[in-house]
Amino acid sequence: MTAAQWDARYRAEPDLWTKEPNAPLAQFAGELEPGRALDVGAGDGRNAIWLATQGWAVTAIDLSTVALQRAAERAAAGGAQLECIVADWHEHDFGESAFELVVVSFMHPQPHDRDALFERVERALVPGGHVFTVGVILADHGRRGPPDPERLYTPERVQHALRGFELLRCEEHAYEQEHSSGRREVTDVVAVARRR
Ligand SMILES: C[S@@+](CC[C@H](N)C(=O)[O-])C[C@H]1O[C@@H](n2cnc3c(N)ncnc32)[C@H](O)[C@@H]1O
Repeated sequence: MTAAQWDARYRAEPDLWTKEPNAPLAQFAGELEPGRALDVGAGDGRNAIWLATQGWAVTAIDLSTVALQRAAERAAAGGAQLECIVADWHEHDFGESAFELVVVSFMHPQPHDRDALFERVERALVPGGHVFTVGVILADHGRRGPPDPERLYTPERVQHALRGFELLRCEEHAYEQEHSSGRREVTDVVAVARRR
């Protein structure tokens, strides 16, 4: 989707995503000493804002101006601050050894882009820094996530994308989610890895 399409989607739905941070992210990052964090494809900021409230200095990057405006407003309303950068991650220089934590939450890039993105993330992390990623599992294709099944996560796909890292965790995470048809069980793939 283009930036304009994401903007239109955010404009059409003020509450596109939950306001809660991703639960496995909160559990994992809650045990780390806060430092500098980068949230790639931060959307309207649920994870970035939560990290900022925990003491992290957070840079949030997203294609969508509308989403990041919303993120900045919500952060300010909660007394938190974000550095918001409207950018396509393909064209944005994340810097080198600039972050202790990088979050990639429900971004679902194409396979070749997935590998390229995590290579960029690796360079952006300090040695010993962590990447946290979560995405919709392939088995949920057709129920949620993007229409192209190639973009969905499997543990094997994520392991491949993170092959340059020390992999600490890569597993399925099943949980119940509110949906227009009532509560339903869904599954994500969650991974944590450390830059060598
Ligand atoms: C499904 S949303 C996830 C938002 C957020 N990470 C979360 O977990 O709530 C995907 C986000 O990725 C952003 N995005 C998609 N392609 C992007 C790109 N090439 N560069 C930066 N952001 C991108 C979209 O604008 C959208 O906000």
